[in-house]
Amino acid sequence: MPDRQNTKILIVDDEASVRGVLKRALEEEGYSCTLSADVESALRILESIPVDLVLSDIMMPGRSGVDLLKEIRGKWPEIVTIMLTAVVNTKIAIQAMKLGAYDYVMKPFDLDEVRLSVERALEKRHLIQANREYREFLELKVEEQTVELRETFLGSLKALAEALEAKDAYTNGHTRRVTEIVVAMAKEKGLPKEEIARIRLAGQVHDIGKIGVTEEVLRKPGKLTDEEFDRIKEHVTLSEKILKSIIKDEGILAMVKYHHERYDGRGYPDGISGEDIPLGARLLAVADAYDAMTSNRPYRPAMTPEKARGQLLAGRGSQFDPEAVDILIEAEEKVSFCPISAAPAGEQPGKSG
Ligand SMILES: [Fe+2]
Repeated sequence: MPDRQNTKILIVDDEASVRGVLKRALEEEGYSCTLSADVESALRILESIPVDLVLSDIMMPGRSGVDLLKEIRGKWPEIVTIMLTAVVNTKIAIQAMKLGAYDYVMKPFDLDEVRLSVERALEKRHLIQANREYREFLELKVEEQTVELRETFLGSLKALAEALEAKDAYTNGHTRRVTEIVVAMAKEKGLPKEEIARIRLAGQVHDIGKIGVTEEVLRKPGKLTDEEFDRIKEHVTLSEKILKSIIKDEGILAMVKYHHERYDGRGYPDGISGEDIPLGARLLAVADAYDAMTSNRPYRPAMTPEKARGQLLAGRGSQFDPEAVDILIEAEEKVSFCPISAAPAGEQPGKSG
């Protein structure tokens, strides 16, 4: 229980003698009291200082104690209210209890009864507050643990994404390199730190949906059938589906889902175009293509950075967002990307996605 000196009681009664008697009796008990003669001034006091308990007459000139009670319930639900009432008004007092008053004391009152009622009302208030604080504490704990769990799960997914690639010499390190490139591009564009962090995360998990594509298709040498290509295409929606349960940021999910859209609308999964494609996804698409081109493939050696840049320029405005292409070229002048992956002889070929 809070100490009584810090417990503020507001006494509202139009009779000065009643206010005086109550103030003396309650201050003797150690409470600190503020007085008010009507509802309007009581409301002004409630607006300006914290009050724990209101002791209010019902019948007063102007607005009644029941009006005051309604205002208190609406604006300061944790304040407890005790009504003072003449015997003739017991019906109104009972109505006040129904509206949420804690108790009523009949006039002419016995001061001991007032003291006891005040004490009990404050105990109840204390319990309600303790209960709320405990609930808030629990909610905070649950939230912390949820965040921790999500982080752990996300960490496992990133590790899994890298492990999947490591099985294939041609795509080994692809996710890590694409992430490095896209982050350098986001920095080059001068995006805010938080946005760069979101783009980094999208880069780290963008191909996680490949878990759901059979290795037979993923690593098939030679040309894919239409049906097989459809399976590959599904990896973007699958990535989104897997990540949805742990990433609550719709923007990051959209970057992942749309990293194979083309600027001219001929990409997948939805065929959206231009600026309808989220910026992060447009940057990712260029970083992804650049890394694929500068990596060895079973059917061709890695392109030189110059040649890859030429390819990006050729697709500038059709396959790729023109600005994203320019950003990559500018960023690359400052940071050297892509240690080109070498595929050991005899390894199974892989496919970029
Ligand atoms: Fe992909």
